[in-house]
Amino acid sequence: MKKIVIFASGSGSNAEQIILHFKNSNQGNVVGIFTNNLHAKVLDRAKNHNIPFEIFSREELIDGSVLQKVEEINPDLIVLAGFLLKFPSDIIAKYPDKIINIHPALLPKFGGKGMYGMRVHQAVLDQKEKETGITIHYVNEHYDEGGIVFQKSVSVEDCKTPDEIAFKVHSLEYRYFPQVIEQLLMSK
Ligand code: GAR
Repeated sequence: MKKIVIFASGSGSNAEQIILHFKNSNQGNVVGIFTNNLHAKVLDRAKNHNIPFEIFSREELIDGSVLQKVEEINPDLIVLAGFLLKFPSDIIAKYPDKIINIHPALLPKFGGKGMYGMRVHQAVLDQKEKETGITIHYVNEHYDEGGIVFQKSVSVEDCKTPDEIAFKVHSLEYRYFPQVIEQLLMSK
């Protein structure tokens, strides 16, 4: 059984979809949730599903403590699902091609430092984009620049608020992210 570790900073609704998907899968299992946010709702979700979790500080992310915890697990895949800090180079170096992120837009559009969550959807609305979507990509040293694994678009011509865009994008995320993770695990 392949081991999946999830990093999340907030609500963790994607993390929960991934947990649920793999509960009945023989391809893999979510074995740990890592968060930098003591108050993140993802912690409630981890507790509800009896998934072990780790809370760490920004300092622990860069001083090697988080790498050490990850190495104790030795995951087959590290999934960033709404993780908002820059991912540290020591973990990237130890797990090449084993770390993926989901971005709530069609990269390279609306990516980079500071582009996350509702900020992305507001920018899509401001730019009067006809469509947006999701991008699942490998994580490298630069925000949102690793190789693209999967993209899916959706029309937002009828959307008048960032919340309406967020709803459409989340629906795509819930539908495709667990599937893409499963396919990646099968190919590893
Ligand atoms: C998701 O929409 C994800 O794509 C986005 O944060 C949201 C987290 O929602 N990630 C980024 O913006 C990364 N740049 P969730 O906590 O409910 O899964």
